[in-house]
Amino acid sequence: MTVPARFGVYLHWPYCARICPYCDFNVYRARGRDPEPLLAAIIADIEGHAQRLGRRPVDTLFLGGGTPSLLEAAHIDRLIGAVERYFGFAAAPEITLESNPEDHARFASQVRAGVNRLSLGVQAFDDAALKRLGRAHDAALARDAVRAAADTGARASLDLIYAREGQAPEAWARELREALALPVEHVSLYQLTIEEGTAFARAVARQKLFPPDSDRAATLYEITQAVCDAAGFPAYEISNHAKDAPARSRHNELYWTGGDWIGVGPGAHGRIALDGVRTATKAFDGPEAYAATVRAHGVGWETNEALDADVIADEAILMGLRLDTGLDRAAVEALRGRALDAAAMADFVREGLLREDAGRLRLTAKGRLLADHIAARLAG
Ligand SMILES: C[S@@+](CC[C@H](N)C(=O)[O-])C[C@H]1O[C@@H](n2cnc3c(N)ncnc32)[C@H](O)[C@@H]1O
Ligand code: SF4
Repeated sequence: MTVPARFGVYLHWPYCARICPYCDFNVYRARGRDPEPLLAAIIADIEGHAQRLGRRPVDTLFLGGGTPSLLEAAHIDRLIGAVERYFGFAAAPEITLESNPEDHARFASQVRAGVNRLSLGVQAFDDAALKRLGRAHDAALARDAVRAAADTGARASLDLIYAREGQAPEAWARELREALALPVEHVSLYQLTIEEGTAFARAVARQKLFPPDSDRAATLYEITQAVCDAAGFPAYEISNHAKDAPARSRHNELYWTGGDWIGVGPGAHGRIALDGVRTATKAFDGPEAYAATVRAHGVGWETNEALDADVIADEAILMGLRLDTGLDRAAVEALRGRALDAAAMADFVREGLLREDAGRLRLTAKGRLLADHIAARLAG
């Protein structure tokens, strides 16, 4: 396999002011914690990765969480500085900060520290929904935060969660139109997932929360596509919409197209070439265990697993099908050393879920609702 041209860094900052009831990311309450030990561990982890991989220019840096917008500009400056020192940046890198709206007073200084893309976790423009989602902001603050982000001159994106309890299709369409009229170039629109072990999962089990059924969710998904298309924000991935090609998340595109990235910070995942073999790394979840591992071994890995061609191909199928550009059939068949399941493919084409065009497999609008199932069947 040729070495992918693009290289990224995912940096996980796991602390949050409070824990949202739907969230199953690797997160911890920030209250009373000194950020310093974790900052030092992450910087050492970046250095440890560079020692193993060598210097390689970074195209995209994604500061995700958790809530990395809790970090002061001086902290962000140190983290970006460490990436620069140990790896170096490619020309015009994309540096994204996942930001909670209530942190908007810090946006300008965070951008001065080197961030050039702000991804705002708005989640809803409806006060009752925001309360139910356990968020600290209301809709007015979300609008202020989006404007503050745009005023910094950085690229701006926002996340919304839909298919919420009791959400009426017309209300969702209105909310989405409002979002798309704000000064953003990109939106990520996620259907609410009830994740095991969360407060929402417990509420569903106790019959205190009733998320929409799959038919209702499918209707909301169709509305999402129609409203975004009409507003000039077509989907380039199942949940991601951009105004134009430069507005796409280059970091996420790197994940979806089989690029290499290191994962630093508690619980972060990476995909890197070690001795020429594509390897999945995963850091320890707990911040203390993570920091102790970095001190002991130079990197924070709990696991590093060489991936075989089948696993790499399965990832390529799953990711490729999610993209508007689709999946290069010949390339993935060469990678796995055998054809995709032809009978399954014919069924999906007949059912109007999949199209093959100039050697690329693309899901239709209907097929996108079943992406995971279709990927699994094609992989056989
Ligand atoms: C790592 S999370 C959160 C980033 C940031 N701390 C925030 O809360 O805005 C990234 C995005 O995942 C989405 N998300 C998290 N949990 C979800 C769930 N259970 N269902 C759907 N979307 C979810 C949210 O839209 C969120 O903005
Ligand atoms: S949704 Fe964001 S703020 Fe809420 S717990 Fe998850 S990472 Fe933290």
